[in-house]
Amino acid sequence: MRTMNKLRKYGIYVLFCMLLFAMVFQFSADLRQPSYPVFKLSEGNMTNRMIIVVTPTYKRMTRIPDMLRMANTLSHIKDLHWIIVEDGNKTVPAVRDILERTKLPYTYMGHKTILGYPRRGWYQRTMALKYIRSNTSQILGKDHEEGVVYFGDDDNSYDTRLFTEYIRNVKTLGIWAVGLVGGTVVEAPKVVGGKVTAFNVKWNPKRRFAVDMAGFAVNLKVVLNSDAVFGTACKRGGGAPETCLLEDMGLEREDIEPFGYEKDKDREILVWHTKTSTPNIVKSNKNSTKKAPPPDTFGYFVEA
Ligand code: UGA
Ligand code: MN
Repeated sequence: MRTMNKLRKYGIYVLFCMLLFAMVFQFSADLRQPSYPVFKLSEGNMTNRMIIVVTPTYKRMTRIPDMLRMANTLSHIKDLHWIIVEDGNKTVPAVRDILERTKLPYTYMGHKTILGYPRRGWYQRTMALKYIRSNTSQILGKDHEEGVVYFGDDDNSYDTRLFTEYIRNVKTLGIWAVGLVGGTVVEAPKVVGGKVTAFNVKWNPKRRFAVDMAGFAVNLKVVLNSDAVFGTACKRGGGAPETCLLEDMGLEREDIEPFGYEKDKDREILVWHTKTSTPNIVKSNKNSTKKAPPPDTFGYFVEA
């Protein structure tokens, strides 16, 4: 009887101790929980990658309308930083106005092509890569740990899903189809069992990466882990710069993540290599031997 009483007393004591411990533990857990919302960034959180679009641009009659179309497209995309590099010594106010109206974070700088470089945006993209490497945290901002770099020329036609469904999900090197390029209607990676084995292209198919600039994007970490830039020539690309850049970044065909190949037919093209034709400006006096004066713009801004 005595031992029973002792045991009961002891049991109550143990129970009390356990209850106290549970209460203290819960209280300290509450304290450990921050009162502000915590931004969780995990492997699966693709949507948080910052898209960095690099666009070389230069003065021509159709540049303002080309840039306007591109700006209208990009302004639909969240978490995008647009880097525009003017092939000139100065930036152009009319271009800056277009950029301002997108409400996107952007960097607009002027770097005129130096001697030795082809005048096709190569030097401008090189300057953009250098800018990205030395201003990474400023471009990413506090909400982004990862980024993807895409070279989007100012004259192509972009489906917004190119950014939201393809580019945003690039872990290393993403590649997809491009319409109206390389002397044919479509260039695309040849995908077998989810892997890229070759390229369905007419022009220079033997290149390690037979892809137009519009047809790939690389994760920011690939850019930061190399010092690859656009050189002054690319022999391996038959003159085109894409394969040299990607090879110099240390990439192999096995690194390619193909996008948009899943369906057997009616596959969609999300970027088109279009070119706005230069308008035929009628001269005011055809028979005059004198140099024609610039056309009257009636006070409107035209890059004539
Ligand atoms: C094709 C590819 O789509 C380009 O990405 C590639 O750089 C080029 O070939 C090449 O062979 O190097 P394509 O459509 O023929 O380009 O060339 P453009 O669209 O006229 O130029 C490519 C980019 O460079 C454009 O964003 C354009 O504005 C810019 N660019 C062009 C300059 O900054 N300066 C120039 O003098 C010419
Ligand atoms: Mn082009």
